[in-house]
Amino acid sequence: MEAARYAPSCFNEQPWRYIVAVQGEDDYQKILGVLNETNREWAVNAPVLMIITSHKRFAKNDKENRWHFFDAGTSWGFLSLEAHRRGLHTHAMAGFCVDRAREAFDIGDDTSIIAAVAMGYYGNKDDLSPELQKKEKPGLRKPTKEILFLEE
Ligand SMILES: Cc1cc2nc3c(=O)[nH]c(=O)nc-3n(C[C@H](O)[C@H](O)[C@H](O)COP(=O)(O)O)c2cc1C
Repeated sequence: MEAARYAPSCFNEQPWRYIVAVQGEDDYQKILGVLNETNREWAVNAPVLMIITSHKRFAKNDKENRWHFFDAGTSWGFLSLEAHRRGLHTHAMAGFCVDRAREAFDIGDDTSIIAAVAMGYYGNKDDLSPELQKKEKPGLRKPTKEILFLEE
């Protein structure tokens, strides 16, 4: 979480906020409850669940912060890399009900609810359902030439 905190942001706004819950806590059950079923099936094994939110407006002048998503993403990226360095793994999830999360944690409209995240250690693939086992393979990445625009 320190790595997430160190991320740079537009005007140093640090718009990201993390709801972090450890297995056994009420908030953990609340986060689990807003995940879609497919995600809940595997995320229930993670020792830590989070919800990442971000403030839409600059605190200093109440103007719209067009970069808050970018900044929150940078922060989560730092967290993810640092977790990996420590032998942990993070898995972001878009598959959850934003409205229910907003209600469960009483989050106002001035805040975007961006993603849920499971954090923990790699488990045993054999413990997953056949459907989920099929998904457990490295995600391919686009070739560099497809994502870079360089003068020839
Ligand atoms: C914002 C975001 C939302 C995601 N949502 C889900 C999700 O709801 N369920 C899931 O199983 N994986 C989810 N993922 C994981 C991606 O599908 C995964 O990172 C991508 O397929 C690449 O696979 P890899 O990270 O294993 O290489 C999400 C990732 C991100 C960054």
